[in-house]
Amino acid sequence: MPNPKVHFLTCANQRPQGHPRGCCADKGAMGVMTAFGQRMQETQKFSTVMVSAVRSCLGPCASGPVVVVYPDNVWYGNVTAENALQIFDSHVNEGKPVEALMLPEGTF
Ligand code: FES
Repeated sequence: MPNPKVHFLTCANQRPQGHPRGCCADKGAMGVMTAFGQRMQETQKFSTVMVSAVRSCLGPCASGPVVVVYPDNVWYGNVTAENALQIFDSHVNEGKPVEALMLPEGTF
């Protein structure tokens, strides 16, 4: 069983078209996952970093795509593929979150 030091969880929940809450899948979650996968390939950090997509809603749908980073319990919203690379690099290389992209307390 892997024991990653950093785990990026991306909400990839899909809801039917027209659903009032929308969903991260329709807001670019796949692009975020592709960016994380690209960075994993580039860095070869497979023993210490894990990237996962979750098919269940994480809660703050209005701020999707949502990414949660463990074990730090840092939540990001409106993540783009470009932001995902910045988030990955900051957590993995510098050990700190990208504060400007974090969801404010109370929104998740
Ligand atoms: S659908 Fe992603 S947070 Fe709800």
